[in-house]
Amino acid sequence: MYNKLLHWSLVLGIVGILLSALGAYCGWFYFPTMIHQKVEENVIITDGSEQYKRFVQLPQPLSFKVYVFNVTNSHKIQLGAIPIVKEIGPYIYKQFRTKRVQHFSRDGSKITYVQDQLYIFDEEASAPLRESDNIVVLNMHMNAFLQVFEKEITDILQGFANRINHRLNRTPGVRVLKRLMDRIRGKRKSVLEISENDPSLAILLVHLNANLKGIFNDPKSMFVSTTVKNYLFDGVRFCVNPQGLAKAICNQIKESSSKTLRELKDGSLAFSFFHHVSSTKLNKCMAFCLSLHFYFELISNFTLSNRKMVPAKNYLNENNEASMCNQINGTDASMFPPFRQPGDNMYIFSTDICRSVQLFNQHPIEYKGIPGYRYSIGENFVNDIGPEHDNDCFCVDKLTNVIKRKNGCLYAGALDLTTCLGKS
Ligand SMILES: *[C@@H]1O[C@H](CO)[C@@H](O)[C@H](O)[C@H]1NC(C)=O
Ligand SMILES: *[C@@H]1O[C@H](CO)[C@@H](O)[C@H](O)[C@H]1NC(C)=O
Ligand SMILES: *[C@@H]1O[C@H](CO)[C@@H](O)[C@H](O)[C@H]1NC(C)=O
Repeated sequence: MYNKLLHWSLVLGIVGILLSALGAYCGWFYFPTMIHQKVEENVIITDGSEQYKRFVQLPQPLSFKVYVFNVTNSHKIQLGAIPIVKEIGPYIYKQFRTKRVQHFSRDGSKITYVQDQLYIFDEEASAPLRESDNIVVLNMHMNAFLQVFEKEITDILQGFANRINHRLNRTPGVRVLKRLMDRIRGKRKSVLEISENDPSLAILLVHLNANLKGIFNDPKSMFVSTTVKNYLFDGVRFCVNPQGLAKAICNQIKESSSKTLRELKDGSLAFSFFHHVSSTKLNKCMAFCLSLHFYFELISNFTLSNRKMVPAKNYLNENNEASMCNQINGTDASMFPPFRQPGDNMYIFSTDICRSVQLFNQHPIEYKGIPGYRYSIGENFVNDIGPEHDNDCFCVDKLTNVIKRKNGCLYAGALDLTTCLGKS
């Protein structure tokens, strides 16, 4: 009896040891490995997988927040005062993203897609701000017009001057236009300098002044009073029923086919910041090729020829290789690498600004009971840019009439996106 008990207790003991060994094996090794494997399987993008579906259609909308600097003293600025602005926001939009996959390479390593974005105003999250709020902001399209045509305008004016000189009467009001023109300081002799020595041109400026009124709805300053909705999406209208020279200028503007301008049904034009990116239609600007060699780093090794983003001027180095700024690091931020550790930083590639952005791990957080990590951008995003930081390829040097540093780079906090318009 005693022997038997001993026997059983031994057996139980051995079973216990085996079980705990198995438990340890499962707990420390098997389950984690299995979970690890499952996670890995689930984040790989293969045709038809769960992750692929999430890749194609982001299941939840992203929050797109816009802050506006509302100009409170526009008329005084016109008389030389320093602008007083008030930051208002955030105006929050839900951004829905859908990708239309055009090609999946045979070996599954590359995918070509076009991304559609849809923006819907989130009234609840934005309250008490409303999309219909009135704001006073820079008259972007008039500014752009005056800058873009600066080069040609002298020629246009001179051409017109010769032809219509004799038909023009002296009209008061050249001052408004002079002020507008004053803001245009190109490398070439300015229109004003020329007109000062050329009375016929001065008369012509009067004529153009009258036309600017017709084009830009009788502007009183470089600022325009509009609503958030119009400024961002629906468009600030101009070129409404232009006549004569104004009509010719409006046609010129149409031909420039800027992405921020669109023609309305009645033939007038509308300027807005985001209408062209918010569309359920084909958005070619977002089309590009991603290499899926690593499921979580949708990256890097593809040539410029199959990339449809427009590279900045000095994006190729002397060996004709893509420079550091042209590297596409990281995911498109709709998914992230798994197995994050505290202290791991990572990259995302933002199609909105055509560049990779490094994200730095800040600290652990909890979101609705789920532990996570908080990441944020660092100084190398828009502050530490320039030759001294070895990234002067980001200094696109395309903007001519702006305040910038001697080396051509913009001041900290500003990013030149002139080359980030995309092409089809
Ligand atoms: C913006 O400023 C203008 C005055 O320039 C003011 O009338 C308007 O109410 C302001 N808008 C908001 C949303 O504060
Ligand atoms: C990039 O791709 C090319 C051709 O597809 C290949 O020859 C080259 O080794 C790749 N480079 C890297 C760093 O993977
Ligand atoms: C891309 O990643 C590499 C290495 O991780 C880094 O050296 C490079 O600066 C990154 N490029 C950009 C544009 O951030």
